[in-house]
Amino acid sequence: MEASPLPGLSAEQIARSRRPLEDAWTLPAAAYVRQDIHALETERILRRSWSPLARVDQVPEPGDFIAMDLAGQPVLLVHGLDGTFRVMANVCRHRAAPVAQGTGRRKLFTCPYHAWSYDTEGRLAAAPLMEGARDFPSDDCRLTQFRSEVWEGFVMANLDPQAPPFAPQVESLRRYFEAFGIGDMVVARTLTYDSGWNWKVLVENFMEAYHHLAAHAQTLEPGFHARDSSVPDNDGPWSILHMPAAAPDPGRPRLVQGLPDWQAGALFAAVAFPHFMFAMHGDGMAWYQVMPMTGDRFVLKIHVCVPRHVLDMEGADDVLTHLEQATAAIHAEDIAVNDLVWRGLNAPASGQGRLSPLERSIWQMNQWWLAQMGA
Ligand code: FES
Ligand SMILES: [Fe+2]
Repeated sequence: MEASPLPGLSAEQIARSRRPLEDAWTLPAAAYVRQDIHALETERILRRSWSPLARVDQVPEPGDFIAMDLAGQPVLLVHGLDGTFRVMANVCRHRAAPVAQGTGRRKLFTCPYHAWSYDTEGRLAAAPLMEGARDFPSDDCRLTQFRSEVWEGFVMANLDPQAPPFAPQVESLRRYFEAFGIGDMVVARTLTYDSGWNWKVLVENFMEAYHHLAAHAQTLEPGFHARDSSVPDNDGPWSILHMPAAAPDPGRPRLVQGLPDWQAGALFAAVAFPHFMFAMHGDGMAWYQVMPMTGDRFVLKIHVCVPRHVLDMEGADDVLTHLEQATAAIHAEDIAVNDLVWRGLNAPASGQGRLSPLERSIWQMNQWWLAQMGA
């Protein structure tokens, strides 16, 4: 028997997941539930991939910051007084306390432990009672800076200094959604969930419309038939799910203006691997921000985003409340099925299942996941 490169996944199981889609199986349950797999995944995927931390409109003014966790690394996204967005380690260079919590606006970040303070570019600005320390501070005594990029209004970050830049990898994805003007959208509402499953359970749920026929039978299926969904070829680490409208677009005014007919009435789900997910439709975007905490828990924020002009529209509040409620109702149906899947994946007799040809995006992601994991 061939040795397996991954704990808990047999070589035979991996080979089944790698078959062409028509013959392919899902990833084995161990890929979701084992702690040692999660540890490997953290090192090989989560700490080497690009993650969206915020929309630029969430940190609009110089000095605005958001403190958060990125794959076990506390980070600080700061809109610098020099106008640049930076992602830095939220770890004091003295004895490692986080220098800020939550969100806010600062000119200086003063550590709550011994009051060392840092400017918005991460430079040490003051360190009280350190006069007797020789050759202090050294030039490198500043908050560690990570790679970041602004892409279509998202501040993206990557903990891996060697990672290839994000934008070129998703250029075809960007072009596919160009008409939506993603870069000009703003976060209007945010829903927050604490989710008790492996993060891949949600990503897979997000990436296929096959489940509309049962899980969303009364909500999405009448407007977006599971059988009509399709997944275009990809040329990078991403996937697009196209869900055409079941009936011709009634032509009601859409919040996103100037969309071609085929996009105006349709629903799209896009994922840049591993977990940068956004759903696009004629009224805007729902950005699903996934923040894995452990192998069996992640924080999810669903940000309801609309073109900036919508905020000034008469009746905008009602429109946004409607969008928020519709988003929450769909996610409630997804929570119910993801809870079921998680129970099954954790059962001793859980293994692998056959994929539907409608689950091409899951298959695309599985090939990428196995390659990144070194399988
Ligand atoms: S740990 Fe930050 S000042 Fe001491
Ligand atoms: Fe769903």
